[in-house]
Amino acid sequence: MILPIVAYGDPVLRKKAKPITKDYPELDTLIENMRETMYGAYGVGLAAPQIGLPIRLFLVDTEPFSEDEEFSETEQEELKNFQRVFINAEILEEEGDEWAFNEGCLSIPDVREDVFRQPKITIKYQDENFKSHTEVFDGLIARVVQHEYDHIEGVLFTDKLSTLKKRLIKGKLTNISKGKIKVDYKMRFPAMKKKR
Ligand code: NI
Repeated sequence: MILPIVAYGDPVLRKKAKPITKDYPELDTLIENMRETMYGAYGVGLAAPQIGLPIRLFLVDTEPFSEDEEFSETEQEELKNFQRVFINAEILEEEGDEWAFNEGCLSIPDVREDVFRQPKITIKYQDENFKSHTEVFDGLIARVVQHEYDHIEGVLFTDKLSTLKKRLIKGKLTNISKGKIKVDYKMRFPAMKKKR
């Protein structure tokens, strides 16, 4: 089932999400629905707060990046096969000199900006079977994981922009929060909620 994606301006996107246990109700269905929602919107990642749930769960699938010729063949192959469910993730370490990449977000349609992040991360998480992992990621995979991880910490990529850039996109963000935007996937806007 495709779930509506929560738009910029909804307070759920600003909450520090809570850990979950194996007993979380209908977790398998939730993950399946989130996966369908992410693919339906051509996203490379989706975090639970983006479908309205303040829990520490996000999915990443970098396959759509694998066609990008900006990357080497080895990188393309790696991007093609990278698919993970992250539960209760904690980033343990971020390393290296920050690099810029043009990011977007399903909750902030039509806004794309260069964001600086460190290239290498060590992350501890549980998978969909609640098996624990500690892994090191770098490059674009680390980037997508960092973006999704920010969502469970209540942080959006637009928070990381310069004061000037923030000022330049302010009007666009206000329009998104009011639902004044055309999107080709299902969204839920904060203003719509208030009208009920
Ligand atoms: Ni996002």
